[in-house]
Amino acid sequence: MKNLSIYVIGISLLMPIITAPAIASEDIDIPFHLGKGQLLYEKYCSSCHGLQLNGSDKGPPLIHPFYKPSHHGDKSFYRAVLQGVKQHHWNFGDMPAVAGMTPKKMDSLVPYVRYYQQQKNLF
Ligand code: HEC
Repeated sequence: MKNLSIYVIGISLLMPIITAPAIASEDIDIPFHLGKGQLLYEKYCSSCHGLQLNGSDKGPPLIHPFYKPSHHGDKSFYRAVLQGVKQHHWNFGDMPAVAGMTPKKMDSLVPYVRYYQQQKNLF
């Protein structure tokens, strides 16, 4: 009996470690073809916009209605990332152009963000 409870405690301590990679995208299953976009998002954007696109103390949530396609089309995503944006909707300061991002990388990243927004019923 004692051995069993040690086993149960051991498993429950390990679970968060075993499931850690899946937590990044929460309960959302990311289709294989969006994997590259997800990696790019997590590398270049999540520090400010949050791993679950839910924002941080450095940037707004991208699952906010402001950022649905009818309000901020894909072009505004390319512009923000490649040229930066002045603070206008929030009080986090300006968004600097993201070093290392290219239009080609954006071609993979934007569909990931749109898919995520859709799964969150933003549009
Ligand atoms: C250093 C922090 C930071 C990083 C990194 C960052 N952003 Fe931002 N982003 C911001 C802030 C702050 C704003 C809000 C500006 C405002 O409206 O006040 C913003 C706004 C935006 C907007 C709205 C632009 C507009 O026209 O209003 C988009 C789209 C966006 N970010 C996408 C991204 C993507 C995609 C990445 C990764 C490639 C990224 N951001 C990386 C801080 C960041």
